[in-house]
Amino acid sequence: MCDDHAMESGASKRSEVRFLVFSASLREASQNTRLAELAATTIEGDGGTVDRASMAQFDCPTYSQDTQAREGFPPGAEELHRRLQACDAFVVASPEYNASMPGGLKNAIDWVSRYDQQPFNERHGLVMSASPSMGGGNRGLWTLRVPFEHLGARIYPDMFSLAQAHKAFDAEGRIADPHLQDRFDTHIINFMDLVEASKHYPCIKRHWVEYLGERPEPAIDRVQ
Ligand SMILES: Cc1cc2nc3c(=O)[nH]c(=O)nc-3n(C[C@H](O)[C@H](O)[C@H](O)COP(=O)(O)O)c2cc1C
Repeated sequence: MCDDHAMESGASKRSEVRFLVFSASLREASQNTRLAELAATTIEGDGGTVDRASMAQFDCPTYSQDTQAREGFPPGAEELHRRLQACDAFVVASPEYNASMPGGLKNAIDWVSRYDQQPFNERHGLVMSASPSMGGGNRGLWTLRVPFEHLGARIYPDMFSLAQAHKAFDAEGRIADPHLQDRFDTHIINFMDLVEASKHYPCIKRHWVEYLGERPEPAIDRVQ
């Protein structure tokens, strides 16, 4: 199934699409970093361009409006902002911490949301997770959708969560169960098709408005 799909949308036929791919874990032996790497491999195998990043590059001091006013944006926020702007879409593999997203990721999102023309708006995103649990960290992804979608990101409806991740990978870093690996590839390639269509064959343009339904007010409007 996946091979047929890969042939249909094969590497030589794909128009240029650039993806920022990163794991939201700072842990050296992170399962989410392995999953992010696997996503990057699938994207490149299907003709996409990948910018591989690590959460350490986006790590920021705890957000404070006073710190921002005094010191401006920290290097981690500058880096995430710059690299999001340079891509068509982003893929994040995030651990689930206490049924939610890791604080470091939310903190980086908060910092980057403060840029004028913040880069999540209208950018496609794919969220995935890996966890030793049977749920695969899927609950955390539902919470991660909230700030992304609030900021206007187009988060892909399907979410891939790798359960029992500590024993799911083979020695080459692929998912040991071939059917699940096929499903993973199909999931990524379907997302790539959407990003490609949106970039190269757009037929509708939408505007993002924060607080839909509120009376227009320059002090709070963030229409971009
Ligand atoms: C603070 C903390 C909270 C956690 N909460 C959850 C949880 O709610 N659900 C879950 O499936 N795993 C939870 N875990 C376990 C992580 O899924 C596991 O450590 C995973 O390997 C972390 O991802 P990583 O390997 O990419 O670093 C938690 C781990 C930590 C450190």
